[in-house]
Amino acid sequence: MSSDEFPTERTAVVTCGLPYANGDLHIGHLRGYIGADAFSRALKTLGQRTAYVCGSDMHGTPVAVNAEKEGVDPEEFALRWHEQYSETFPKFSVEFDNYGHTHDETNTELTREIVTTLDEEGYVYEKEIKVAYDPDADQYLPDRYVEGTCPYCGSKARGDECDEGCQRHLEPGEVENPTSSITGNTAEYRERAHKFFRVSEFTDYLTEFLDGLEGTPNARNQPRQWIEDGLQDWCITRDMDWGIDYPGEGADGLVLYVWVDAPIEYIASTKQYTERVGSDAYDWEDVWKDGGDIVHVIGRDIIQHHTVFWPAMLEAAGYTAPRAVAATGFITIDGKGLSTSRNRAIWAREYLEEGFHPDLLRYYLTTTGGLQQDVDFTWEAFQEKVNGELVGTVGNFCYRSLLFAQRNYEGTPETDVSDEVEARIEGAIGEVREAVNDYSLRGIGQATTRLAQFGNEYIQRNEPWKLTDYDPEQAAQVIRDCVQLAKAIAVLFEPIAPGKAQALWEQLGEDSAVGDTGLEAALEQPPRHFDAPSELFEKLEDDRVEELTEQLEAKIDAASDDGDDDAADDAPTDADDEEAGGDADLEPLLEERISFDDFQDLDIRVGRIESAEGIEGADALARLEVDIGLETRQVVAGIKQLHDLENLPGEKCILLANMEPATLFGVESNGMILAAGEEADLLTTHGDADLGEKVR
Ligand code: 2FM
Ligand code: ZN
Repeated sequence: MSSDEFPTERTAVVTCGLPYANGDLHIGHLRGYIGADAFSRALKTLGQRTAYVCGSDMHGTPVAVNAEKEGVDPEEFALRWHEQYSETFPKFSVEFDNYGHTHDETNTELTREIVTTLDEEGYVYEKEIKVAYDPDADQYLPDRYVEGTCPYCGSKARGDECDEGCQRHLEPGEVENPTSSITGNTAEYRERAHKFFRVSEFTDYLTEFLDGLEGTPNARNQPRQWIEDGLQDWCITRDMDWGIDYPGEGADGLVLYVWVDAPIEYIASTKQYTERVGSDAYDWEDVWKDGGDIVHVIGRDIIQHHTVFWPAMLEAAGYTAPRAVAATGFITIDGKGLSTSRNRAIWAREYLEEGFHPDLLRYYLTTTGGLQQDVDFTWEAFQEKVNGELVGTVGNFCYRSLLFAQRNYEGTPETDVSDEVEARIEGAIGEVREAVNDYSLRGIGQATTRLAQFGNEYIQRNEPWKLTDYDPEQAAQVIRDCVQLAKAIAVLFEPIAPGKAQALWEQLGEDSAVGDTGLEAALEQPPRHFDAPSELFEKLEDDRVEELTEQLEAKIDAASDDGDDDAADDAPTDADDEEAGGDADLEPLLEERISFDDFQDLDIRVGRIESAEGIEGADALARLEVDIGLETRQVVAGIKQLHDLENLPGEKCILLANMEPATLFGVESNGMILAAGEEADLLTTHGDADLGEKVR
């Protein structure tokens, strides 16, 4: 597994989860597509040879069921949505190097080739299993055609996924109390021969793979738990007409499970890109067959598919393993998952119809919360981001600087940038590099806002408007620095806000595309002359936000009133609660003060983590043994998804030792580890404080 930093000498590819071609896109979907687009653009600014590919997911019951509801042939139905998506993504500046679909020839051929290899290599076998069947409809009930109860957590579940509970993939026959979603009848189970992929043979391989996997900690930690529980082989065929026919013998009437051909589209789409640009420019085989850097950006509901089934398939068929899986949290509204059928969503189309610039949403979605955090969308929070950070910080700095520069110097003053500002810009470039290597979109965005914040302070501190008369040389220096900062902002902001970055670039008199530059352009000389600038961002007024909030509340009310019970059809609401940090805003300070005596009542100690392991059945909790000098304490902490547990032993920490004992998932907790921030940054000491020392 590669661990050298981006940019690497290798060829990379960035992908995002393929959208099912079955309905309108909403901001929950856009979080992933925009996020991966921003990451891919950022990689390109670092000088990485890379491509951003995706495609529509055309097969499976998610498409067949919806097509059937409309009485349309699934192919026609899926192609219609495919066209729609192809038109919608660019409107949010989501620019794929290739956007294909799983039903096209490239993917169909490649899928058949890969499955044939799996078969030939002995990784596929046939087994009689119980498959849900609806006698009235006289048909088998794969996946979404059947609903019931999850055997692992008891939540309501679909045939192949526990979408409202523990997020596990469910094998045919696993869902309990099965009901046909066609007729509402209780389903029967019938014996039927299906093809299985020997995933269980890859247990050791996957354990090692996960140890080297980059991306978000949830993508490593959830599968570790599943592996510990024991991997099952994976049924890769379905009783359906719609899909890619199983390529081998003895599978009449069976198509491949949608989750076989869907990820193969990552490869097929990359291949199509090479076919378009030529292998000298970009060779898909360098990536997929010769150890390239593969980065998957996905939603956290499909971690298992990307960190268990997919790498096992790649390994078995002789392809490159992914370098990173970055799994995003969900967007919620009013604390609940978005719901397509209940219209509890902000639709992509609606957002555009409001006339908002796509970059506002891009900035909001990439910089609100960490990547794996759930984000509750409100128009107020959106307004705060727009007015505070975009209008107040970035827009304000650029406008005032360029206006002053244009009016007094007709553009860039003729002097060199100062050492202070050059160093500050180099610092911001370093922040972007680090953020890319940490898979932190927020870090990429914040590097720009912080730079603009510095610019505002710099101009305020130096007051060039006062200097023009009595120290014109210094005034010119300050403005020269500000123009350089504005140029750096354009370069650094391009991955997150490509449209606005280009507008700023042009205001600076540049005539190229800012997206074609690398980070080093941030320090290059700006053009000598430019025209008067215009404001980059527009303030979002309170009355507009009130109106939008009222509309959203009406939607939420209507969604809770209607009888449809798929409250969380697009995002789970009850899993990983500890992971969902909610609003990223700082909590207000408490008014009420406590006495020193009250503080003394808290027995806070320096400790060292001796061991850390997950707690079975608890997605977020870990059991830690913490040495606090006088004794070793067992503590339960909500950090399982947020830290790599095997790296914790040996780490110093701070423990509240006189916390009341509590029992969580059957494990007694005798203390509380102190942490801050949505990624549970563990508090520690940095000097020589001994274990057991009291924090005073
Ligand atoms: O969950 C989904 O929406 C799937 N269509 C994602 C597929 S991602 C990839 F692996 F194919
Ligand atoms: Zn479950």
